[in-house]
Amino acid sequence: MITERPVAPRRRLAADVRRSSMLPFAFPGPLEGCRVSGGYLVEIEDVSFAYDNRPVLTGINMKIPRGRVVAIMGGSGCGKTTTLRLIGGKLRPQRGVVRVGGQVVHELDSGALYQLRRRMGMLFQFGALFTDMSVFDNVAFQMREHTDLSEELIRDLVLMKLNAVGLRGAQDLMPSELSGGMARRVALARAIALDPMLMMYDEPFAGLDPISLGVVGKLIRRLNDALGASSIVVTHDIQESLLIVDYIYFVSEGRIVAEGTPADIRASTDPWVHQFVWAEADGPVPFHYPAGPYGRDVLEAAGA
Ligand SMILES: Nc1ncnc2c1ncn2[C@@H]1O[C@H](COP(=O)(O)OP(=O)(O)OP(=O)(O)O)[C@@H](O)[C@H]1O
Ligand SMILES: [Mg+2]
Repeated sequence: MITERPVAPRRRLAADVRRSSMLPFAFPGPLEGCRVSGGYLVEIEDVSFAYDNRPVLTGINMKIPRGRVVAIMGGSGCGKTTTLRLIGGKLRPQRGVVRVGGQVVHELDSGALYQLRRRMGMLFQFGALFTDMSVFDNVAFQMREHTDLSEELIRDLVLMKLNAVGLRGAQDLMPSELSGGMARRVALARAIALDPMLMMYDEPFAGLDPISLGVVGKLIRRLNDALGASSIVVTHDIQESLLIVDYIYFVSEGRIVAEGTPADIRASTDPWVHQFVWAEADGPVPFHYPAGPYGRDVLEAAGA
């Protein structure tokens, strides 16, 4: 069972701040007090899920080892965000179980679920910053809402988080004054505000230029390792994933069709993986939407 990491006592936290002056993070190890069965922080076993009887996931199995960064990849609509919602307890599987830190998520009462969610950091797909708050206040928001830390300590922690993403100097800017890449980095700092044990990133690279994309990718890896956390990255970006993650699951039409380490994926002769890695327009994922014979359509159009 997950025991909530003590938020205060302030003295201990202040000592941690000093002790970790070389590190961007102040709290003790994020997995402290957490039982992780078999070294896996997240275990998804034979999970099936349907929205209103429309199946989205069918018999999914995934394991996220502690300390690792795992990517979930697959075409649009294959069920990636749905998988994250199941892990976060926003949805309940019709079959199978999702365990986080050894706890079955859908068996938790609302109090326990709240405590668990507090230990998860989420970068939402299209997630925006609070537009009427400065960069500093965006990152401080969760600390002010969920802890009783003093403003002085919050300030130290916010600056550490912003420093970790290279944006300490941007603390007073408003979101409208940030580039897309900077905004994503502030969102990263906000997502790690409470030192989560599990980070979930939904399309963290979407819409970024290649340089910002590389920066965000490296940050995801660095933040994971500095926090001693586990991370799940949902993305379409195979090339960046191959550089920063430890393991990749490929999902197609709600099923896992391939999985492996970046080395496995690069060496794979599986046609589905090959199509994804080499960005081929046609393959197991067809270019054409299902249609009848072309000739018939042409003849019909000609009134034959
Ligand atoms: N709240 C919902 N109610 C009904 N259907 C939904 C809901 N959310 C998603 N879906 C459907 O479930 C399927 C999987 O959606 P999901 O958002 O998990 O896909 P995804 O893999 O994250 O796609 P993308 O890469 O486009 O973000 C899609 O067909 C989608 O239309
Ligand atoms: Mg999605």
